[in-house]
Amino acid sequence: MNFKKRAFGQRITRPLANISFAVMNKQVRAIESSGISMMHTARPFWYYRRVFFQGQSATSVLNDLKGKVIVDIGCGYTPFADDSMFQACHQAGVEFYGVDPLLANQVKIDFKDRLLARAMGSKGNFSNTPEGMSNAISAYADALPFAEQSVDQILTSFLLFVWIKDEAALTKILREFLRVLKPGGVAKLYQLPDWRLMQFENMELIEVLKRFTIKQTFVHGGLDFRVTPAMLTVMGK
Ligand SMILES: C[S@@+](CC[C@H](N)C(=O)[O-])C[C@H]1O[C@@H](n2cnc3c(N)ncnc32)[C@H](O)[C@@H]1O
Repeated sequence: MNFKKRAFGQRITRPLANISFAVMNKQVRAIESSGISMMHTARPFWYYRRVFFQGQSATSVLNDLKGKVIVDIGCGYTPFADDSMFQACHQAGVEFYGVDPLLANQVKIDFKDRLLARAMGSKGNFSNTPEGMSNAISAYADALPFAEQSVDQILTSFLLFVWIKDEAALTKILREFLRVLKPGGVAKLYQLPDWRLMQFENMELIEVLKRFTIKQTFVHGGLDFRVTPAMLTVMGK
């Protein structure tokens, strides 16, 4: 794509992504204020491929990830769905961890969870006792049970937006990402607003951000709005 076309594309996609972020944020707050707390989803592998891996085929993603350590933070119920990236990686021998505080409790997927998963594009079957559960870990994003410099990629989908205005919390999480990522590792965060518009004031956060290279790309699902048109933020260490 030539420079002019790219500049034009960015003039459209960045505002679109910011509107999409604002709408999503508002919807989630409205859901929360109606008494429903955090929703636990089970998004399928195709969604992860579209959002985090430029829509590459399952085979290509799994081949690329062989020998790497991948951590999906705020993974929801994905370990329990047989069409998830968690299970695809387990089957393919890729070291993939699903991290979510909900995993502290015995999970029992019910009708409502299945319905939500279907709405998010999952066609999978659910098991309450799936394989690979030693890689499904209960932990919080700011206290990850991984050694320093041990992780190649961190994935987060609909997680960090919660703390976008809580700069102290965001600092703790990003510092933790820096700690566990290998040099050259990346954290892929979907979705967040345009970083260039963020007016952070917390000096610690500003310092932590300086230690990453930050690149944003626009992702979308075409007419499939289960992939919201929005920014994928890739933070390289
Ligand atoms: C809005 S859901 C997103 C789930 C899924 N990644 C998706 O894209 O639909 C947020 C998930 O993050 C989990 N979560 C909440 N607080 C967290 C924290 N401090 N660290 C890690 N995960 C957290 C919740 O239990 C929930 O499953």
